[in-house]
Amino acid sequence: MEPQIPQAESAAGHPPLESLAVQSLMNRDYESRPALFYERLRAEYGPVAPVDVLGVPTWLVIGYPQTLDILRDARGIWSKRLDSWRARREGRVPADWPLLPAFEVDNSVFRDGAELTRLRGAWSAGLRPFQDRTRPQARALERAVSSYADDLITVLSEGGGRSGWADLSAQYGRPLPLMVVGRLLGFRPERGEELLMDMWRLLDAGPDAAEASARLFGAVADVCAAKMVGPGDDLPSYMLAETPDLTIDELTREMLMVVGLIGDYTGTLICNTAAEVIIGESGARDSLSAGMIHEAINRAAISSPPMSNLTFRWPKTDVRIGRFTLAAGDPVMLSPAAAHTDPAFTGNMAPDSIYSSRAHLAWGAGPHACLGRDLATTITTIAVEKLFERFSELRLALPADQLPWRSSPMMRGLRSLPVNYTLAGEPPEAPAAPAAAPERPAQGDAGEDGDSGTMSFVRRFLRVLRRSDS
Ligand code: HEM
Repeated sequence: MEPQIPQAESAAGHPPLESLAVQSLMNRDYESRPALFYERLRAEYGPVAPVDVLGVPTWLVIGYPQTLDILRDARGIWSKRLDSWRARREGRVPADWPLLPAFEVDNSVFRDGAELTRLRGAWSAGLRPFQDRTRPQARALERAVSSYADDLITVLSEGGGRSGWADLSAQYGRPLPLMVVGRLLGFRPERGEELLMDMWRLLDAGPDAAEASARLFGAVADVCAAKMVGPGDDLPSYMLAETPDLTIDELTREMLMVVGLIGDYTGTLICNTAAEVIIGESGARDSLSAGMIHEAINRAAISSPPMSNLTFRWPKTDVRIGRFTLAAGDPVMLSPAAAHTDPAFTGNMAPDSIYSSRAHLAWGAGPHACLGRDLATTITTIAVEKLFERFSELRLALPADQLPWRSSPMMRGLRSLPVNYTLAGEPPEAPAAPAAAPERPAQGDAGEDGDSGTMSFVRRFLRVLRRSDS
């Protein structure tokens, strides 16, 4: 008897994705030597590879021109709507698949067409006051970031000599942008600290993440409801002014994205840029020494894009890419990190040029391209410049190839960035009063031991973080 050839195989000329995806995305090389891993995948499969993402078979697009083409979606064949996912419609995605909660938030990331245009219109208008550097809100935000950065450095180095040890991730790169989130969302200062802590718990996906997430959702929903009746000088209010028919629920879902986008991704870009400059291999240090901070950030975004792999897209029709036919409704993950290692991309960059390519994909492209790029770049610029202004020397406290990278299918970020430092100026004195947690923190009031408002806030914030870590 003739063997039965599955329908998909006969049409595509190869077995369906479910039978091909034997290679796990999450492996040691993916974490510690991603360029090598992508090179191997490219040699074996070409520009698109079948992989297993935490138990779910997925097409990983690793070619640069293919990734760009899909991002731009000129033919309108790509969907980001979750209901385009065939296996999910057929009940074949495990209910406990770890990425499902992040995919089911139902915000602009997972919308298409007119729905997407409406939400992106609100985002663009809402972010404009904070991204257009001629606007007072943008200048005030820059001053706040600068002051938080100064205070974090003072706190991490106080009480020691001119030299010491610090974790630039936990004590600087991660808390700094988290402090901006409360400001941008317009939280009442007295709620700031608890909410920042919940953001931290949520982003670290620890044992209390679920409760933290629920509290955060409630708090952000309260803020959004309050902005509907009494608008302020903040992102949700400006988004509502642009798109008044946004419901509380819609606005809350969009504002929750800010926690990840600023708190996590921007913090990651700060740490990745600082690490690249300190290691000095990718040209980022030369760029910074030449006064080209944006170039240093660009180089870090190319070699370690914080969003290394993007949330899924699904083709609306069967589509041929490289050696495979991707069936309508198959999950597809674009990998900017892999695309940046494609000779089709790297071949255009002269190795000794002080300018890297600006055609990188760390901010996406096309209808879903990042709308907060300027804001993230501004925060990162101030954070990194401040580090190299306040420290005359920063050296990794362990060999570069032993830096601990986070194990994540979508992020390329460090778990910690331990450094030995030498301060450029005199060391700050130890705080006069020992740390006793105040009843109610206030982000902006004169604080304990006569500190500036932000300094006092920073000290309390770091103390709570230490408590939650232990
Ligand atoms: C270093 C930090 C950041 C990185 C690396 C980054 C990167 C990206 C990327 C790659 C995309 C496209 C995703 C896709 O096509 O699937 C995106 C979309 C987006 N980003 Fe950013 N982003 C960052 C920070 C921010 C910030 C601070 C904001 C605003 C507060 C922001 C707002 C957005 C929005 C609204 C979208 C569009 C969502 C959509 O239409 O699907 N991003 N970002």
